Amino acid sequence: MESLKQKILAEGQVLGEDILKVDGFLNHQIDVKFMEEIGKEFRKRFADAEVTRILTVESSGIAIACEAAKFFDYVPVVFAKKATPNTMAEGCYSAEARSFTKGTVSNLRVAKRFLQPGDKVLIVDDFLASGEASIALAKMVRKAGAEVVGVGTVIEKQFQGGSAKLRDMGCRVESLAVIKKFENGSILFE
Ligand code: G4P
Ligand code: NA
Ligand code: NA
Repeated sequence: MESLKQKILAEGQVLGEDILKVDGFLNHQIDVKFMEEIGKEFRKRFADAEVTRILTVESSGIAIACEAAKFFDYVPVVFAKKATPNTMAEGCYSAEARSFTKGTVSNLRVAKRFLQPGDKVLIVDDFLASGEASIALAKMVRKAGAEVVGVGTVIEKQFQGGSAKLRDMGCRVESLAVIKKFENGSILFE
């Protein structure tokens, strides 16, 4: 997605070896108009797919998932929770995801009633790095007897291997911007 690449180049900041900071439009402040373009682009990429639910992880994935949902006939958006609030006593699917950036492990949870057998689920997220989060989501979808119709990510850092792992699991992956590597603080797209 050309406009996304331009935005990343204009506003993104490379931190250290492998982190891209895009707080100005994606991870802290949100550019809603641009997010709508992102939603539209996901529809284009998955034009042929039948989707009954969109699944993401709190917190940065939520805005992306909601914009995407508008272009998939307003299907429900479900976000996996990282902590277990006491309102979630009901049956849950859970899967662990190790955060590459933070070095922590989250136990992702989704209530069973929000993932039904037969659901066709589009997984979306802001970043695809090592793939831990998306793989955890895909595992929960399959545990529920539902189908992963695809994984859509805004920014993929290809060198961290997440997309290859997801494809090995049989998931279709569409990333709107694919970063091949960072070199001396600059961004090289695929
Ligand atoms: P993975 O799921 O693909 O393995 O990635 P990772 O463990 O690194 O993801 C941990 C968190 O860090 C995720 O957000 C992910 O979106 C984010 N992340 C990964 N790489 C980058 C990067 O280069 N830049 C930025 N800004 N974020 C990155 P999260 O911890 O779940 O936090 P939230 O922002 O969604 O609340
Ligand atoms: Na994030
Ligand atoms: Na995320």
